[in-house]
Amino acid sequence: MEIIVADRVNAIGSYAFADVGNIVTQLKKEGVSPIDFGVGDPTLPTPKIIREACRKGIENRKSSGYPSYIGGMGYRETIAWWTKKRFGIDLNPETEIMSTIGSKEAIFNFPETFINPGDYTLALNPGYPAWSRGTHFAEGKTCFLNLLPENNFLPDLKSINQDVLRKTKLLWINYPNNPTTAFPTTAFYEEILDFGEKHGIIIVSDEAYTENYYDEPPISILQLKKEGVVVFQSLSKRSNMTCYRVGWIAGDKRIIDAYKKVKPNIDSGTVTFIQDAAIAALKDETHVEELRKDYRIKRDVLVDAFSKIGLPNCNPKGTIYLWQSVPEGYTSLNFSKKLLVKDIAVVTTPGSWLSQEVHGVNPGEGFIRLALVPSLEKVKTAAERIKNLKF
Ligand SMILES: Cc1ncc(COP(=O)(O)O)c(C=O)c1O
Repeated sequence: MEIIVADRVNAIGSYAFADVGNIVTQLKKEGVSPIDFGVGDPTLPTPKIIREACRKGIENRKSSGYPSYIGGMGYRETIAWWTKKRFGIDLNPETEIMSTIGSKEAIFNFPETFINPGDYTLALNPGYPAWSRGTHFAEGKTCFLNLLPENNFLPDLKSINQDVLRKTKLLWINYPNNPTTAFPTTAFYEEILDFGEKHGIIIVSDEAYTENYYDEPPISILQLKKEGVVVFQSLSKRSNMTCYRVGWIAGDKRIIDAYKKVKPNIDSGTVTFIQDAAIAALKDETHVEELRKDYRIKRDVLVDAFSKIGLPNCNPKGTIYLWQSVPEGYTSLNFSKKLLVKDIAVVTTPGSWLSQEVHGVNPGEGFIRLALVPSLEKVKTAAERIKNLKF
């Protein structure tokens, strides 16, 4: 029997991070231990206070049954409390907050709520693949907005074709930005909100990195407006909880209400004892500050190494990444490969793999991304090797 895969699956390429994984596997087969800056998955342990809360939760909830689709009231109230403390925003835990299984599942499934076949999503390019993949599986189309250094890695909303605009339902933004590390400003959010209002487009702000900053904490778009806006948050990067799969959506009640209709048809609620762990995580800032310090040292060590070989200081204010421009005469891929030779063995992601070619331009070309996730010791080793790089 011939196995015929659906067109929507055939239409998608491989997942960039799976490709990175394959190179690492190959190096390991050759007996080399690469230092892996590829995927943004922290390697430090999830803080003990969170693990303990999870352990206790398993006992306390031994007969908990299926978890609520929208999250328990305790979890939603803690999110409301944290959001007020962090951003000064009032959220009603009954109607304006909903738990998610990490943010990826919700990002992928969310377009099912608003996209009819042929409708458009606007998404940043480079950007997190699930924004456009979710739209694709909902039979919509994505119009990619290039993030270029000359625009401070902010999208040019004026570049969007009027026909596309008429069919657009969602605009995905993400600041602090993965991978460019750009930060949001009030003026930028005002522009986005005016644009959404004018064209009847829902603004979806993926705020997975608001807690990963070095100096000034970034703002949330919800500080400016709730109407027509929804924010996706995640504890993955704030609290090293990638394996727990826990996050939430917050914002306009009408948008949350609509998504509440979709989610129970697709998956389940966040596991109850994981919600307990998330509550413990949100109540503690000490571990977040410690993680920030660790990322800052790693950033400084690597930025210094790249400047020693004559590359510009990419000077990130936050996220867990460096968006490093490559030397003249190199493509993203060539330079990534240069760093992968056996005596350097530093794994990075070519920027061109994180973005699409739009109007003949791949905005990730000319950059590599480094996720600051290896241990400090490994980062220091990598920095010494980079300093020896000749090109
Ligand atoms: C911009 C952005 N959004 C969302 C996610 C998803 O994170 P999670 O599903 O772990 O919450 C990531 C993960 O790297 C990301 O970079």
